[in-house]
Amino acid sequence: MPSPLMDLTPSAALGAVEGNTAHAKPLRTELFRSPIIPFLYERILPPIWALGLRNLGGIDTEFRLVTDFFGQSLAIVADISCGTGIMARRLALSGRYKHIIALDYSESMLAQLQQQARLDGISPSQITIIRADVEALPLASNSIDAIYAGAAMHCWKDALEGIRNIYRVLLPGGKLFATTFLKPFPSIVFRFFSLQELRDIMVAAGFNKDNVQLQARGLYGTIWCIK
Ligand SMILES: C[S@@+](CC[C@H](N)C(=O)[O-])C[C@H]1O[C@@H](n2cnc3c(N)ncnc32)[C@H](O)[C@@H]1O
Repeated sequence: MPSPLMDLTPSAALGAVEGNTAHAKPLRTELFRSPIIPFLYERILPPIWALGLRNLGGIDTEFRLVTDFFGQSLAIVADISCGTGIMARRLALSGRYKHIIALDYSESMLAQLQQQARLDGISPSQITIIRADVEALPLASNSIDAIYAGAAMHCWKDALEGIRNIYRVLLPGGKLFATTFLKPFPSIVFRFFSLQELRDIMVAAGFNKDNVQLQARGLYGTIWCIK
């Protein structure tokens, strides 16, 4: 049985009110709703990332960095902006955590995640799949042990609002591992950041500056934060 998908976006909750553009999203968010993108994510991008675009070694390296930082025996780990669940599925299959929340704005990416999770033998009791907006995160404050947001912030409409929401839902002592792409990539469709801009966002969202660590590898930025 596939894991069910809950739609908790503001537009689903309020219904599509004609002329209401309060929750309209930019192209950098909307394009992931196209069915072609999940196809690329599962079949084409991982070997390209592994050549060095997403750390040397791609998602394997990222999985090691994430699990080293999170440690063992956490209750709830959320993959926010999980896409097709490349990391969420690995975290679920690792057996290190009691429950995984996989959350994304794109119903197409989540449909691929549902299908793949079933093929991987991940049961609905191991993973909760939610369509939601990181900028209006429908999770309780102080409820999540650790959050992964991989290659995500450059796709959000308002990165500061997204990180504010993440800070709010993390438990005290909770951990955030995030990655994104950096300048001088030009911000035409996506919004790219300098390391200083990323640090400013983390601190403005609530993280103590001493608990924020950043690293650039080429044009790929990695962020470690503890609430
Ligand atoms: C580049 S993909 C990264 C997917 C995955 N985390 C990975 O590591 O491969 C960015 C994801 O962010 C999601 N996204 C964009 N805006 C979002 C928002 N406001 N709330 C939640 N997810 C969002 C997109 O739907 C897309 O799946």
